[in-house]
Amino acid sequence: MKVDFLLALLVLTPPASSLGGKSEYQESDKSRANAASRSSSLLAAARRRRCLRIGRLAGTELKEMPHGLLHSLITLRHLNLADNQLTEVPPELHNSHAIETLTLNKNPIKDINEDSFRGMVNLRVLNIAYMPNLEYISDNSFSTLVALRVLRCRNNERLWSVSPHIFDGMDTSRGIFPLQELFLSGNNLTTLAAETVPFWDQLLQVQLHDNPWRCDCRLQWMVDLLPKLVEKGQTEAERVT
Ligand SMILES: *[C@@H]1O[C@H](CO)[C@@H](O)[C@H](O)[C@H]1NC(C)=O
Repeated sequence: MKVDFLLALLVLTPPASSLGGKSEYQESDKSRANAASRSSSLLAAARRRRCLRIGRLAGTELKEMPHGLLHSLITLRHLNLADNQLTEVPPELHNSHAIETLTLNKNPIKDINEDSFRGMVNLRVLNIAYMPNLEYISDNSFSTLVALRVLRCRNNERLWSVSPHIFDGMDTSRGIFPLQELFLSGNNLTTLAAETVPFWDQLLQVQLHDNPWRCDCRLQWMVDLLPKLVEKGQTEAERVT
């Protein structure tokens, strides 16, 4: 029954008025009652829909994923968990091999590590932005994301460390690297190793601006490489200072 209720929640979209604020559920008894009746009609809808492809759980004050929920949602392709109270990437997501788009923006997640996205072999777009507590991204965090095309990791004001080994172990021996767009702007990064991305020149878009880059010899590669990307019209890197 609990799972059914959350299934219904999965197809709930937060009202525009709750964006960035509290979810409607928390606000008053009246709105709770409205949400409950909306949930029960959505529950019926969720039951009829055998394959749920899109899940929106944004702005619902979730602290964790209900256990086993995604296990029963093996068809889920797009999941928006933005603006909740998650402190880690929910481990239940490891079972969602079908997931292609995952949005975790505005959650108080402190770090991203090798367990965060394990098993998400079809993930193409990952949004980890506006996270108030994110401080570091450690070794092998993205090593298993062999389909990752777009990584939007920006406006995380405390993010000061991105390991040079975030993609270590991914097989790039044939010159194939999935990433096409990398957004690292608006973080608190002072440095970034050239090895972080195996093939910078294959990227179609790179954004690195609005970080407190420390312009020493460790960033020389950026100074050398980025003008070439700009020439190709691929990047906004000219805004790097
Ligand atoms: C950004 O990093 C600097 C150290 O490099 C630190 O002093 C500052 O507090 C950080 N900013 C935030 C918002 O965490």
